[in-house]
Amino acid sequence: MKNYHIITFGCQMNVYDSGRLRGLLAERGWRSVATLAEADFIFLNACSIREKAAQRVIARLKELKPLKKARPSVLIGVGGCLAEQEGVAFLAQIPFLSLIVGPGRLGEIPERLASLDPQGPALILTGTGRASETASPGSENEVASEEESEIASEARPTPPGPAALSSFLTIMEGCDNFCAYCVVPYLRGRERSRPPAAILREAESLLAQGCREITLLGQNVNSYAPTRLDPLEPGQPPFVALLKKLAAYPELWRLRFTTSHPKDFSPELIELFGSLPTLCPQLHLPLQSGSDAILRAMGRRYDRAGYLELVRQLRQANPQLALSTDIIVGFPGETEADWRMTQELLAEIRFDSIFSFKYSDRPQTRAQNLPNKVPELEKSRRLFETQLLQKAITLEINQTLVGQTLEVLVTGTGRRPGQLSGRTGSLKIVNFPGPNWLQGQLTQVEITEAHVASLLGRLPEAQDTFARSA
Ligand code: SAH
Ligand code: SF4
Ligand code: F3S
Repeated sequence: MKNYHIITFGCQMNVYDSGRLRGLLAERGWRSVATLAEADFIFLNACSIREKAAQRVIARLKELKPLKKARPSVLIGVGGCLAEQEGVAFLAQIPFLSLIVGPGRLGEIPERLASLDPQGPALILTGTGRASETASPGSENEVASEEESEIASEARPTPPGPAALSSFLTIMEGCDNFCAYCVVPYLRGRERSRPPAAILREAESLLAQGCREITLLGQNVNSYAPTRLDPLEPGQPPFVALLKKLAAYPELWRLRFTTSHPKDFSPELIELFGSLPTLCPQLHLPLQSGSDAILRAMGRRYDRAGYLELVRQLRQANPQLALSTDIIVGFPGETEADWRMTQELLAEIRFDSIFSFKYSDRPQTRAQNLPNKVPELEKSRRLFETQLLQKAITLEINQTLVGQTLEVLVTGTGRRPGQLSGRTGSLKIVNFPGPNWLQGQLTQVEITEAHVASLLGRLPEAQDTFARSA
């Protein structure tokens, strides 16, 4: 029996991939351990979306140097988008790495580990096909064909033991949108949709293991377009057909998806938010900017008016819909007036929450070469003010929930003793005092207090606690 420890950075894709790797390692008799000191194999699943994200991973890897020195037999590997980006160049910064694996080659790790010499040359697995071994920085790593990866991506054992009450399920990989600022299409490759049968099989396996909430994952889930349509109904968008199929499982209480692109919303998909009760009233809909000039420069393929109209239709389909978004401030060429337009749009739409970022130059992207970069200090100011505005909006929205009774999926314990924690259909965190046996259940909670990041609540007195039970 050998021990491993995985550290995950980045988005849900990496979280999902780490889970997949756990499943594959368990099949080969590896055991997950909580501390680095016990691990024979340490794997960092790394992100490259912004420079800061990449720097964080490098810093964490550097911290492992003394451990490798004290115990040379330990295998240290790095994966995820940053591994794909850096490839063999990673060794120049972190020479003690034994393994560098891009997201498309993750499945090859378990079989290759056994033959890896912790003191020998590093194994570089990037691209989506054959391996290339290298002894020193400077040698080339091969990048192989795309077709093989779809086949590889179909075998996905889920981690052993009970599935998480709330689980991710990848329905597509890669991205074809090439937004001017974004590194994802270069690192995760072209868009590939998994066959519906494979997705349904994985959903059934999750549900059989106790999962009750599934979040479908992909960089652009609403452009889901499998080449083999077999079990899906013709005459409707494949993503809509897939959502309906999944919602039909009686064991599935909640269904979500992320991320969707505003340009790919069909009328049928909008309508589902009003007609499919299992589909949660919650949507992450990246806006990025409120200025048409910046949206055009970003290559987002919608404008301010189009986005607003989409929001209007979505809210018409379901007035309860909680919306969140992503905002980038300081994209090259963004003037004060452009940024103000984003502020105005945030105030007009009133998202439940936003994720906001300072624009960051990324390798290979078009934006990297654009003129009129916004100074760092100016980006910081815009980010600060954007977040200040949104905090006030989020708090106001959350305060309207005080006094309401909401359905909460209890996922664990809260921070205080005796407290439980869960999420509403709108994805808001609710902490409330309650008995432990409520974990894993849906229950009604009366909201008593609102904060920016969470709500406080209590179990209503004398009630029929369960909306549904397992
Ligand atoms: N596929 C999703 C999310 C991609 S990454 C989508 O299309 O929305 C998550 C977020 O990171 C993006 O929505 C964007 O807001 C932000 N982001 C991506 N690249 C960035 C960069 N170079 N600088 C700053 N923020 C970036
Ligand atoms: Fe990046 Fe745009 Fe693709 Fe999202 S849609 S992953 S932001 S290129
Ligand atoms: Fe990061 Fe790759 Fe996700 S760059 S955000 S881990 S797709």
